[in-house]
Amino acid sequence: MTRALITGATAGIGHGFADELARRGRDLVLVARDAERLASVSRDLESRHGVRVETLVADLSSRDGMQTVADRLASAEAPVDLLVNNAGSGLPDWFGTTDVAAEERQLDLLVRAPLVLMDAALKSMTPRQNGAIINVASLAAFTPRGTYSASKAYLVNLSQWADLQYSPGGVRVMALCPGFVRTEFHERGQMDMSGIKPWMWLSVESVVHDALADLERGRAVSIPARRYKILAAFARHAPAPIVARQARRGRE
Ligand SMILES: NC(=O)c1ccc[n+]([C@@H]2O[C@H](COP(=O)([O-])OP(=O)(O)OC[C@H]3O[C@@H](n4cnc5c(N)ncnc54)[C@H](OP(=O)(O)O)[C@@H]3O)[C@@H](O)[C@H]2O)c1
Repeated sequence: MTRALITGATAGIGHGFADELARRGRDLVLVARDAERLASVSRDLESRHGVRVETLVADLSSRDGMQTVADRLASAEAPVDLLVNNAGSGLPDWFGTTDVAAEERQLDLLVRAPLVLMDAALKSMTPRQNGAIINVASLAAFTPRGTYSASKAYLVNLSQWADLQYSPGGVRVMALCPGFVRTEFHERGQMDMSGIKPWMWLSVESVVHDALADLERGRAVSIPARRYKILAAFARHAPAPIVARQARRGRE
């Protein structure tokens, strides 16, 4: 694999993927909204790792933004063989109390954008019989926890099916389901994280490391860190009201 396209690549988990993949010699296509920050991240990665970095300024909660990135994925020139569907954000309040227009923008960013980009990537990768897609979901996918967890559950389910469907033809699909990761996510969403114990926080580096190792192992779902594998097993099998009560802490 030679070229990766990463959405939300200027901060947090997306930036971690960009840094590690560049370190491994991959050329990159980076996507985010803030053009200045994109240019600065791109210069830094090029100078530190000697790879080629393209940038695309796109708001992935808009149709135009999705189309810009889908067009790049469909291009046969300098094809992309790894898509990391990562861009995301959260809302500070529970569904039913939020502005429904904000919920719809979230749905577009967390569900419609990965769907549209996966479609473009699969159509480009399957004829080449080569490629991989990482959909950044969340451990929240396994808990009843409002619209955020519902969006992430959609991604996990679709990824599991897509991996079964397309991996025999050489295209892998994996959902990445981290617990709490130290990034800009919670501050941007104005979330109160004071109830989260220190042991629950993961580093971006460890999440990216585990995700790439799980992709190489052929996993369809990656849950970084043993403690979160145990929590995910609990969430899958315990009664929904108990899981929902535990999951109310924090906003992930
Ligand atoms: N942090 C956690 O605890 C955690 C846990 C589980 C899963 N996740 C998931 O991991 C993914 C990355 O989150 P993170 O924690 O790394 O967040 P982050 O640190 O806030 O970074 C978000 C990145 O996405 C970009 N972005 C945000 N909205 C966008 C939009 N509308 N269009 C295009 N790009 C956009 C941001 O750049 P611009 O603002 O310039 O666009 C930035 O590069 C998300 O899908 C999140 O749901 C996070």
